[in-house]
Amino acid sequence: MKLFVDTADLNDIETIAGWGVLSGVTTNPTLLNRVDGDPDAIYRRVCELVDGPISAEVVADARGDMVTEGRRLAAIHPNIVVKLPMGAEGLAATSVLASKDVRVNMTLVFTAPQALLAASSGAAFVSPFVGRFDDIGESGIDQLRQVVEVMASPVFDTEVITASVRGPVHVLEAARIGADIATIPPKVFYQMLQHPLTARGIEQFTADAEARTARTTG
Ligand code: G3P
Repeated sequence: MKLFVDTADLNDIETIAGWGVLSGVTTNPTLLNRVDGDPDAIYRRVCELVDGPISAEVVADARGDMVTEGRRLAAIHPNIVVKLPMGAEGLAATSVLASKDVRVNMTLVFTAPQALLAASSGAAFVSPFVGRFDDIGESGIDQLRQVVEVMASPVFDTEVITASVRGPVHVLEAARIGADIATIPPKVFYQMLQHPLTARGIEQFTADAEARTARTTG
């Protein structure tokens, strides 16, 4: 499973890209609202930091405007993927953009039937939201499993991006289910990085290396 980061924070993107683990980046209007700066300039910088699909979301709500905005975003950089919300307007805009070789990531997908529609309209990616399903007392992972099963059909060439990830367990479950991608908030990347036994092991190895140096040089 490939790992994307779900943020518009350039410092976090640069830090995590520096680990050599990133295959792409997703953003959305909420994430952009948490940072300062011109969105287009942010997208351009993200494209410099990470060589992979970079999702930029449209804010228009009518198909014609979505297509216009999507084409403008796609022109920023060849790695830009246009993010469109699930719905009749988003599907119609996706089919137009796909016919013009603009890749679309269909967001706010919750169920396998929605994913089927997204893939059928030509979406290159579908983003089922796991955490928001958990928030309403249902299993986001169960829904994700159905999406992955349905998208495995050779009829489709659509990659599944596990979105709305809230913790390392979501990432692990997405990988076990066979999702193509998980887009992970920076906070969850930092949680994945750490384990007390790793820290304790490094402390022990460092102490033993120093003890040996002291013995052999002293
Ligand atoms: O980018 C879409 C998705 O990952 C949002 O997550 O935490 O706002 O449900 P969240």
